[in-house]
Amino acid sequence: MDTQIEKLVLAAKEAAKNSYAPYSKFPVGSAFEDLGGNIFNGCNVENLAFPSGLCAERTAICKAVSQVGPKLKIKILIVYTPTARVTTPCGACRQVINEFALPDTRIICVCDSDSILDMKFSDLLPESTIIDELM
Ligand code: THU
Repeated sequence: MDTQIEKLVLAAKEAAKNSYAPYSKFPVGSAFEDLGGNIFNGCNVENLAFPSGLCAERTAICKAVSQVGPKLKIKILIVYTPTARVTTPCGACRQVINEFALPDTRIICVCDSDSILDMKFSDLLPESTIIDELM
């Protein structure tokens, strides 16, 4: 794993420590680098109406858009779970990532074993509408 990826994995692990997941007991951390070299991270934040909680990926993206604005483009995004197997972004997160991704945005899922999933966003959400064409 190269040092930039290691740095992002650490940022995702740091965010997972702040996870608020009293209902699922499933902490998740995410971190990404945008095309400008900025790094953002986020954790899942749940509430009593369980489905309306926010996943780690969307927390990180909302933080980033709030700070750098709507032109955000994600270069590499990490999803970390303290589990033996990797977790991939849920369907809702895939759709949100699509707003701020490029087809070759890298999505890397890591966990506490050596298991790792490293793929292009276009493989995670095939045939998605390319947002730039709409703007
Ligand atoms: N979760 C994430 O934060 N990211 C994922 O990629 C998968 C699921 C969260 C949502 C919920 O708080 C908990 O994990 C259990 O589904």
